Amino acid sequence: MPEKRVVVLTGAGVSAESGIKTFRDSGGLWEDYDIMDVATPEAWERNQELVLDFYNQRRKQLYEVEPNDAHYALVDLEKDFDVQIITQNVDDLHERAGSSNVMHLHGELKKVRSSVDERLVYDLDGWELKPGDRCEKGAQLRPHIVWFGEPVDMIPAAAELSNSADIYVIIGTSLNVYPAAGLVSYVRPGTPIYLIDPGELSVGHIPGLTFIREKAGTGTKKLVSELKKDHT
Ligand code: APR
Repeated sequence: MPEKRVVVLTGAGVSAESGIKTFRDSGGLWEDYDIMDVATPEAWERNQELVLDFYNQRRKQLYEVEPNDAHYALVDLEKDFDVQIITQNVDDLHERAGSSNVMHLHGELKKVRSSVDERLVYDLDGWELKPGDRCEKGAQLRPHIVWFGEPVDMIPAAAELSNSADIYVIIGTSLNVYPAAGLVSYVRPGTPIYLIDPGELSVGHIPGLTFIREKAGTGTKKLVSELKKDHT
């Protein structure tokens, strides 16, 4: 029998227990920074140093944290299922835990790209991208991040994956940011959908949803053991 496919959509909450701040919780990143100052093409036009510094701090922190139980539970799930992760996160904690299939919707912190040719993407050595660091065409390198107002090129592929799910799992996202938050509408009717998040989310509009009101670490471990039990 072919393996059942579990498609997992993750957000900042899956990395919260690793010590990475979420965006919209109290104490979240968007309390300390204005999105318009650091995460838009206009911000980049206005003040490249501020934008570079914001992502340098994020990248520096990423070298100091480790994957948590939630990331590892998703790796464990691969023993019994075809697991496909779609993440809104720009960290690499799913990969470092050992997940095989990870699609990044909003870019990757450890990569940088040309500011004049988006096809020129490079791995950055270390945490710091500096003013004056240039691509092979001589243009300033920018973070490899999808900023607000920029197209999310991975959405068609993520929608197709969502549509192919036998089981859909959502972990640690406020479902506030589109188009990512709309991916659940591509899940085929009748597919079981699980949401793991300790927050107060209004998800009444999602049919077939089981809301596991827990933190990612404990919630994901529990769900993974349930899914494995049902599978055998
Ligand atoms: N375990 C699971 N979920 C948690 C935990 C935890 N320990 N702690 C907080 N959360 C939940 C919150 O309840 C909230 O629902 O994580 C979610 C975080 O929501 P946001 O901060 O809005 O993050 P996210 O949904 O990933 O944001 C989407 O917005 O700013 C952009 O590009 C950025 O990819 C990001 C996008």
